[in-house]
Amino acid sequence: MANNLLKGKRGIIFGALDDKSLAWKIAERCVEEGAQVTLTNAPVALRFGKINELAEKLNTIVIPADATSLEDIENLFDQSIEHLGGKIDFVLHSIGMSVNVRKKRAYTNLKYEWMNKTLDISAISLHKILQVAYQKDALNDWSSVLALSFLAAQRTFPQYSEMAESKALLESIARSFGYHYGAKRKVRVNIISQSPTKTTAGTGVDSFDTFYNYAEEMSPLGNASAEACADYAVTMFSDLTRYVTMQTLFHDGGFSMMGMSANALK
Ligand SMILES: NC(=O)c1ccc[n+]([C@@H]2O[C@H](COP(=O)([O-])OP(=O)(O)OC[C@H]3O[C@@H](n4cnc5c(N)ncnc54)[C@H](O)[C@@H]3O)[C@@H](O)[C@H]2O)c1
Repeated sequence: MANNLLKGKRGIIFGALDDKSLAWKIAERCVEEGAQVTLTNAPVALRFGKINELAEKLNTIVIPADATSLEDIENLFDQSIEHLGGKIDFVLHSIGMSVNVRKKRAYTNLKYEWMNKTLDISAISLHKILQVAYQKDALNDWSSVLALSFLAAQRTFPQYSEMAESKALLESIARSFGYHYGAKRKVRVNIISQSPTKTTAGTGVDSFDTFYNYAEEMSPLGNASAEACADYAVTMFSDLTRYVTMQTLFHDGGFSMMGMSANALK
């Protein structure tokens, strides 16, 4: 159901790879709520992903940008402002990749060169995006910036490996930059900590199905779907949540607050 919650707002959506991606669902919901968006992803993802299909559906453009490249991010903001006809009101950071997990290196045997790359892509990229926007003054007052995280930032999930550190850093950047951007322009920066979700990045985690089912059984409401995540993101981009900033918001059916559940014990 659309309520024009984002009518007249302009957004940039990072990270739609295919129709399972959280960013894909969020982009669709934002447009349904009256926003105009540009889409972006790493040049390599444009080759094997389906982002152009989404752009066609949403009647917009794709601007390639490697989220670790300041030059690419600067170009992305310039082109988005030009295409959308004004400064930006919301940004979604939906980016994650672990080189050590992808290459099946154990957490007790990490290759640090790869770990640095993982941290750069999955966490420091949020700082780079915020810093470029801040220096260019590319965001309107009361804009909303969101990134996606997982509970492994606070609790230990062995199979999540170095992504746990990435998420802890990502959440810290949201708090730190949330202060500076809030004080300068009333821009808010938040994190949605989402349930396990069946996407390309999600299913890259070892034993994902077992992990997904465990979270489902532990959560009183069950796992939050990608569609539900999109609904939540819309509220965070809307003017209804203007005083929420620097938060990690758990969108996980209650999973993060559980110790043990009757269903998980069966
Ligand atoms: N799926 C889950 O279980 C789950 C749970 C909690 C949080 N998250 C987080 O949600 C976010 C989105 O992941 P998803 O599950 O939709 O999977 P996804 O694989 O669809 O999205 C990850 C995106 O990151 C992009 N990316 C990778 N390297 C990049 C780079 N250098 N520059 C720009 N983009 C780059 C990929 O191209 C892809 O579009 C990630 O931050 C992920 O950690 C996912």
